[in-house]
This record gives sequence, structure tokens and C-alpha cells, in this order.
Amino acid sequence: MNAKIFIYGRNRRYLTVPHVAISPLFDNARVVRRSELFALVEASLSVENDSKTWLTKDWKQISDLDINGDSNSWTTYPGLFAAGQLDIMTSWLLSVLSREFFVSSFSKDSMLDFCCGSGVIAHVLKRKVVSSSVSLLDADKLALHAAKQNVKNAENYYLSDGWRDVPDDAKFDAIVSNPPVHRYESSDLSVLKHLIDGAPAHMKPNGRLYIVAQEMIPVGVLLESNGSFSKDSIRPFVDPTNRFVVWVACVRS
Ligand SMILES: C[S@@+](CC[C@H](N)C(=O)[O-])C[C@H]1O[C@@H](n2cnc3c(N)ncnc32)[C@H](O)[C@@H]1O
Repeated sequence: MNAKIFIYGRNRRYLTVPHVAISPLFDNARVVRRSELFALVEASLSVENDSKTWLTKDWKQISDLDINGDSNSWTTYPGLFAAGQLDIMTSWLLSVLSREFFVSSFSKDSMLDFCCGSGVIAHVLKRKVVSSSVSLLDADKLALHAAKQNVKNAENYYLSDGWRDVPDDAKFDAIVSNPPVHRYESSDLSVLKHLIDGAPAHMKPNGRLYIVAQEMIPVGVLLESNGSFSKDSIRPFVDPTNRFVVWVACVRS
């Protein structure tokens, strides 16, 4: 798969001589259209081709990520979610998960961190739930590049727009997510809905789905209306400030 980039701007040296400006970063840079004043440049980046990722070393940032008093050296890049910090909703999700894993006897052999960002949730799952395998998924190649450094030896790293590039036979005991609910400034539940709709096909019998979101996001309604989750299993865990909710749902067996 080739991701394409189009750059439009003034017909000056750096746009019209693309190999000078963007060839180090992308493949096949070329001028598609040019007028006296403006130019359109097209380039692509093969997602299988990691040869250009050496450039990311220049932007790599290492921070000290504190997870409940546990200090971790953490790799991140400009623009990634939470910028090397522990997001407040992710933190609530992790505390619910640690309670769940202590009290519940369900099998946790294989888990998926859906919309993993730089990999905080997968990192904690891998450390706390011994003898389990963890996979990570994100649509952002840079996020996944950071996650590979933060969570080594995961079962799979899926570079995927939602479920699109996850094999049909990939099944999990637990799918855990802090999904995006905004696109730019507007609210956008499309990734959340896509996660819920596609999850049952990727869950083992008695598999569980964990989603954290702001309390006004109708996750419970979406889970109930899906029909594949057992109604009795759908439970909300509200944080002490009443702002965030972790929703848990078990797929019908
Ligand atoms: C709210 S962040 C959560 C990151 C991380 N799980 C955490 O808790 O720190 C949401 C992540 O979803 C990813 N994302 C957005 N749209 C996506 C899509 N269509 N498919 C997969 N991942 C997506 C973003 O790249 C971002 O890393």
C-alpha cells in the first residue's frame, strides 16, 4: 500500500524542485501541475518500506513516563497523542483494568490495544498480565513506530485504519481502547462505532471489550444496540470525578 501526499503552493524553488525538499522523506516525488505562480507536487510513501524512517531519529523524544509511580523511559514523536505523558482517561482505564484482572477469572491470553498511540496501554498489559500476548493497532505510522520501541516483542503491530488490515482470523480475549472521538475540532464517533461493530468478529468466546470515553459519549447505547454483546455484561465504571467512563462488554457466547 502506498500512502500519497499532495503539496500545493507557490511555484518557488522548494516546491518545483521536489527532490530537494521532499525526496529525502518520500518516494516518487514529482510535479503534477505547474502554472506561473503555483505548483502541485505528488509523492508517496510505501508503508512496507521503512528505509526512510532513519529520519525519525531527528525527531525522537525520550521522556520519563510515570505510570502510577512506576517510571518508564518513553519514546514519542512530535504530534503524537499525550506527548509522552499519561493521559487522564488512559490512566482511569488502566486502574479499571488492573482491578478487573485481579478479580476476574476470564482468560487473558491474547489482547489487543486498539488505537494504541505510543503504546501505553499495551505496555501495562504486557507487564501486568504475565503469560499473555499483546498486539497493537494504530492508523498512524509514526505512532506505531514509537509503540514498537516502547512495547518490544508484541505479537503483532497492525498499521491499520480500524479493522481494515487485521486478518479475519485474528481473535482476542480482550480488546482495550481509548479511541478518538474527535476529528480536528468536531466530535466524530466514526472510529468508536467502527471499533464496536468490528470487535465481535475478532473476539474469542467470552472475550471482553474495554473502552474508555468521556461520560457524554454514548458508548453504552452503541454497545447495546450492536446486538452481539450480552446485555447483562455491559457495565460502566465511572471515574471519581464523573467525567470519564470505562465500558466493559462481553461478547455473546
Ligand atoms: C486518544 S489516542 C489514544 C492513544 C493511546 N491508546 C493512549 O491511550 O495513550 C487515539 C489514537 O487513535 C489513533 N487513530 C485515529 N484514527 C484511527 C483509525 N481510524 N484507526 C486506527 N487508529 C486510529 C490515533 O492515531 C491515536 O494514536
